[in-house]
Amino acid sequence: MKAILLAGGKGTRLRPLTVHTPKPIVPIFNRPFLHYQIDQLRQVPEVDEVILSLNYQPRRIEEVFGEGEGLGLRVRYVVEPMPLGTGGAIRYAGDQLTESVIVFNGDVLTQVDVNAVLKLHRERKAKATIVLTPVENPRAYGLVETDPDGNIQRFLEKPGDNEITVNTINAGIYILEPDTFDRIPKDTAWSIERSYFPSLIERGETFVAYIDNGYWIDIGTPAKYLEVHRDIMDGRYSAPPFAGLAHGAPWVAPDVKVEDNVEIQGPCFIDEGVVLKAGARVLPYSVIGKQTHVEEGAVIDGAIIWPNGWIGREAVVGASILGRNCHVGRNTVVQSPTVLGDKTVLTDYSKL
Ligand code: GDD
Ligand code: MG
Repeated sequence: MKAILLAGGKGTRLRPLTVHTPKPIVPIFNRPFLHYQIDQLRQVPEVDEVILSLNYQPRRIEEVFGEGEGLGLRVRYVVEPMPLGTGGAIRYAGDQLTESVIVFNGDVLTQVDVNAVLKLHRERKAKATIVLTPVENPRAYGLVETDPDGNIQRFLEKPGDNEITVNTINAGIYILEPDTFDRIPKDTAWSIERSYFPSLIERGETFVAYIDNGYWIDIGTPAKYLEVHRDIMDGRYSAPPFAGLAHGAPWVAPDVKVEDNVEIQGPCFIDEGVVLKAGARVLPYSVIGKQTHVEEGAVIDGAIIWPNGWIGREAVVGASILGRNCHVGRNTVVQSPTVLGDKTVLTDYSKL
């Protein structure tokens, strides 16, 4: 069985972080995001191949996963000649398929039991089964209405404020039958949410909901990106390296250099090669990437700092996100919620 991960979007809402790092491989702590989805797919014994459907910066993603060495699954890449949208991408990647296929939006993190979704799909002999999750505000998602038997009655992508009838949304995880793909036009941009799902309802095909009340997040905005880190550090989503750690404990790589009077408050994550100079303070929910230097008296207060950062003396960095190789000058204050692209240089005494 094959799984398609839709990983071709530009990640515009995460800019400038995604200028050099496509969203599917933004790091969550020190692992590219899609690793978490591949971990989840490994739990489905039938899945032997993951097809990464790519468009934006495909080479960077291929460099990370190779042919899937060490992942326990074969990885194959399908690169669209142009962005085909979610529907066009599925058709393009799945054109040769003859058996049910699992599809994931490449930016959702859940603990949904994919084996159970597959079981429901088969029992109901569905043409498509999609996972739904309840959210507070469905505005930014695909709103899905169901009947008491779990049949989907309506799929409304990005509903307006006056169109919100229920709180269940498309979680971005599907099981689809490839014999339905011929309705998706070839080689033009086409949306699975706006065209394919409504077509199943119009044609009266078996279109089933699997409602999951467990953890769910779409990491596609800076706020959500910060939130997913907090959730893992708080144990709301169980993932390494926090899964085996005492609640609230810091995770500090063995080779981190910690000088005198450094304060480290968990939960936080301090990766390999980090240097914490005298009097530096790392406060809860901070994530400090590889080889970052935190100079004397600097305070990291809930920031996520990608590798090779340099935080000057007495600087204060709040709950912001800093791309790779950022340089924060001495006594600079970065207040949340700031998002800095790779190689940003903030001169001494700046205030953001
Ligand atoms: N290959 C390819 N080509 N992938 C694409 C393309 C494309 O042209 N466009 C988007 N994608 C990928 C993105 O990389 C992402 O992983 C996924 O498809 C969904 O796109 P988003 O841009 O993240 O959509 P969204 O978050 O606004 O809405 C979608 O996800 C919600 C759940 O998070 C919809 O599926 C909603 O219905 C859903 O509720
Ligand atoms: Mg998304």
